[in-house]
Amino acid sequence: MNTEKFNPTIIIIFGAGGDLTWRKLVPALYNLWRDEWLTRQFSIIGVDRREMKQNEYRQHLREGVDQFSRQTVTNEAKWTKFANHVSYIDADFSDAETYTKLAEAIESQAKEWDAKPSTIYYLAIPPSLIQMVTEGLGKAGLAQDRERARIVVEKPFGRDLDSARALNQLLTSVFDEKQVYRIDHYLGKETVQNLLAFRFANALFEPLWNRHYIEQVQIVVCEEVGVEHRGGYYDHAGALRDMIQNHLMQLLCLVAMEPPVSFDAEEIRDKKLDLLRSIRPLKPDEISEFAVRGQYEGYQSEPDVAPNSYTETFAELMLFVDNWRWQSVPFSLVTGKKLAQKSSIVNVRFRPVPHLAFPKSATESWEPNELHIHIQPDEGIDICMQAKVPGLKLRIEPVAMQFRYSEAFDKEPVPEAYETLLLDIIKGDTTLFMSAAQVEQAWRVVMPILEVWEKSKRGIKTYAPGTMGPKVSNLIPVEPMLMAS
Ligand code: BG6
Repeated sequence: MNTEKFNPTIIIIFGAGGDLTWRKLVPALYNLWRDEWLTRQFSIIGVDRREMKQNEYRQHLREGVDQFSRQTVTNEAKWTKFANHVSYIDADFSDAETYTKLAEAIESQAKEWDAKPSTIYYLAIPPSLIQMVTEGLGKAGLAQDRERARIVVEKPFGRDLDSARALNQLLTSVFDEKQVYRIDHYLGKETVQNLLAFRFANALFEPLWNRHYIEQVQIVVCEEVGVEHRGGYYDHAGALRDMIQNHLMQLLCLVAMEPPVSFDAEEIRDKKLDLLRSIRPLKPDEISEFAVRGQYEGYQSEPDVAPNSYTETFAELMLFVDNWRWQSVPFSLVTGKKLAQKSSIVNVRFRPVPHLAFPKSATESWEPNELHIHIQPDEGIDICMQAKVPGLKLRIEPVAMQFRYSEAFDKEPVPEAYETLLLDIIKGDTTLFMSAAQVEQAWRVVMPILEVWEKSKRGIKTYAPGTMGPKVSNLIPVEPMLMAS
């Protein structure tokens, strides 16, 4: 039973008939409700173009919950109770009348509750519709309550720096920046949040967390799946836009940012922004040395992908952070689709000991210390160190000390990323959301690479599905580090 109480809340989902709502948002809201996080005074209003009766819409959502939620519907009465909080409006986003109707629905709910509710406008819609809906909300006066009205925007935040700036300008012309929640679902993952606890709630690591002790850092997000049914979107995005500019850059921030003074949202966001600002921009003539791209064999035959496409499905960057803590430490950011395994991991390799006093024969298998932070699957942390192999012969070999979430905290079900993020939006906590400045700065980092890659297909390497991507000789090899874990 959760005792924390939140303001009465109305969640208005634009794109209520879409995949995101069906697979992620409503299952997450259902779980929050089941776990008693939501107050009795909450309602969900779905808005979309398709004509649907209330019952039809609720039934559609139920199927999504049954398929995708970590807690499925086991009790009919409970589902009905939840479903009573949900309503559906079929409406045209371009029609001013839609927003008037919405304002009336909010007003009447507020009267019924006798309270001023928080209103969350969740844009689960394609980027091309964001302007229309944001302006519609603005004109109807629905953004005016600076404390209680919030807008939620999903990635992609633009497709380059200019379009991201334009999007931010649009959003902040109607809402205040503090009302805008830019979602990066990686920030809702338990292990990603644990990076902050790991770094700043332990005395052990922070003294070593710098260029004097760390030799290199790799942030790797491998996927086994290909582009599946998203070829139309992905072929215009590619791995750099789809993953590196947002998810991997956010992971980099959490791994490398300076310790915050407090866990205040602004403080964390500022520290992350400082880190992004310290990333050394790559010059056009350095790109071939520090950035690698690849495409899996068969990608060009995927549905909605251009037959001669040179969109990258694999990207690997080596970045340097120009500050006192990290000068000269390479940070590799690696991601790809159709790789050998699904695995998101942060690997930190420490510098070798200054002197190995053991006989050479004892240290043939010696390796530097490594820390593996497994973000998914098999969430946990390994500290890889050296130990003497028991026996009369002196032999030193690597061993791993392992912590696994599933073993350490098996009683607590791990919430889905969207549960964490939706609850934070309801609470009005922006810590796990990206500020306009962060998004733009992350674009600044990738722009030089995008520009070079868009001009020519030179240097793009193909790789066989089920491998670890193209063979790259000039970057730190991913494979040995991953396999070691
Ligand atoms: C999304 C990307 O943001 O993240 C997808 O658009 C990618 O291409 C997905 O597959 C990966 O998320 P997760 O949570 O499965 O690692």
